[in-house]
Amino acid sequence: MYEPVVSDILTRIRRTRLVPIITIDDPSKAVPLVDALASGGLPCAEVTFRTASAAESLRRITGERPDLLVGAGTVLSPEQAALAQSCGARFVLSPGLNRRVVRWCQDHGLPIFPGVCTPTDIEMALEQGLEVVKVFPIEPIGGLPYLKAIAAPFPTLEYLPTGGISAANLAAYLSFDKVVACGGSWMTPAAWIAAGAFDRVRDAARDAVAAARPAAAGR
Ligand code: 3PG
Repeated sequence: MYEPVVSDILTRIRRTRLVPIITIDDPSKAVPLVDALASGGLPCAEVTFRTASAAESLRRITGERPDLLVGAGTVLSPEQAALAQSCGARFVLSPGLNRRVVRWCQDHGLPIFPGVCTPTDIEMALEQGLEVVKVFPIEPIGGLPYLKAIAAPFPTLEYLPTGGISAANLAAYLSFDKVVACGGSWMTPAAWIAAGAFDRVRDAARDAVAAARPAAAGR
């Protein structure tokens, strides 16, 4: 049950190559925000569980826009994973690798991409049967050279780097064939969301899609 779901979600993530990370304080902004991303060419998002509004925002998005691929981020406990799934999340990410969260998601058919930072983390991920992991926070820990260095001993794994990625360095990450997609919040800054500046979100998404295109074509 778990593997086919993961493969379906990964197919969709590989297609967009980019997962916008959104942190929402006001649930009424949730649907306009994902609409702006979708109109810029990104029909997907990770809603972080960093605010009290996360669950309600996720519920509204998945209820009103069921065709978008939307997951939950910053999931730190099995209870939060269960809440995310009940709100319609199609996948889960976490900043680190919590074995209980990974196990819960695997047991409940919810694709999980936990964060890793070191070769030891990666060995733990392999032990739990994972094939794709988030690498966080990629820029402060060494960027693409670091990712290539830690990926070398683990040829079967693939990566979702996040943390400090922007339109400026996106193409470089995507040109590495072990990178499934990149995650980032640069298209959805809090000030734009608060001001309802959804046209700016749409334009940033469009620019990001354009920045990702040469890398995709080159692979
Ligand atoms: C994450 O949750 O993966 C990070 O907050 C993303 O990092 P960024 O905000 O630098 O894009």
